[in-house]
Amino acid sequence: MDSKTLHVDAGNGYDILISPGILDGAGARIRAALPAARRLFVVTDSNVSPLYGPRLVASLEKESFQVHTHVIPAGESSKCASRLVELWTWMTSLGITRSDAVVALGGGVVGDLAGFAASTVLRGVGLVQIPTTLLSQVDSSVGGKTAVDLDTGKNLAGTFYQPDLVLMDPEVLDSLPDTDFMSGMAEVVKYGCIWDADFFDFLAARPDRRSLMGDIGHILYTCCDIKRQVVNADEHDTGLRMILNFGHTLGHAYELAGNYTVWTHGQAVAAGMVAAARLGVALSVTQADVPERIRGVLAPLGLPTSISAAPEHVRRAVGVDKKSAGDFVTLILLEKIGAVRPVKLPRDQVTELLAGLDGR
Ligand code: GLY
Repeated sequence: MDSKTLHVDAGNGYDILISPGILDGAGARIRAALPAARRLFVVTDSNVSPLYGPRLVASLEKESFQVHTHVIPAGESSKCASRLVELWTWMTSLGITRSDAVVALGGGVVGDLAGFAASTVLRGVGLVQIPTTLLSQVDSSVGGKTAVDLDTGKNLAGTFYQPDLVLMDPEVLDSLPDTDFMSGMAEVVKYGCIWDADFFDFLAARPDRRSLMGDIGHILYTCCDIKRQVVNADEHDTGLRMILNFGHTLGHAYELAGNYTVWTHGQAVAAGMVAAARLGVALSVTQADVPERIRGVLAPLGLPTSISAAPEHVRRAVGVDKKSAGDFVTLILLEKIGAVRPVKLPRDQVTELLAGLDGR
């Protein structure tokens, strides 16, 4: 696969570099993007650290960076305020300065948490994202959302803070368990649904991991290109960016229903997209064949296409939905594959409509 570069205008502007083996060239890339940085604070987790930590650190030290590494326990429970304080304390006790940078090596938990820490320590230091899961490569590492979870819900505290560089090595996806790879595929399919019907058809013709990995460079590039266009138009999520949440309102209800342990985020979003398409058909917004077409792409990948949630979970998910404004919620619906239509409705009506979907 060829190397590919995308440029995001948001923030100070930054590149997304997609290239097999780029992990070993990370030092030189970071040196070019952050010439004033002397010290790098690598944040990674207990799964990723033994797999890719030594290669990354070797590449950084080759460029004469002074490298400090902090390993957090793998898993969503690390995306919390106490780990954020732990990172602040770690970095400041080592005397981090504003010209230094945080390097996030891992999936969405590491990227969101380390990004939050980078955006707030000393009121902001450099940030490099090196995402190692499909989900974080196509979504969370690009666009500058950082977050921790609260007892009251996921991602409820955070900042918008664009990175200085995103390095994407498709080869690291080989070590992902199937469940995690396919969870990332739910977000990949989402881009086809909301933006690009040709890309949707391209994915439909690749119903297994082997064929998808054969074209992974094109897949990463296409998803990041769509995300970059959306983020450039609406960095702070007040309009267009909401379309990236297609399938997510019910997805959040399904995650809640399974107490965040039964369904992964991607699995919940997969079923949420089918449900949102069915709702769109019921509201005469969406073409009648769309739910079945989405199901036809997701099912061969082993992703669930229907999940039941109690009305209480739907009500809670709608209650904390970040697409809410006052008593209104914006539902992200499709007109057809590749054409999205946000529809603003009273919150109570949305809760009733979503709770009325039978989950089958
Ligand atoms: N993950 C959705 C967004 O970045 O806006």
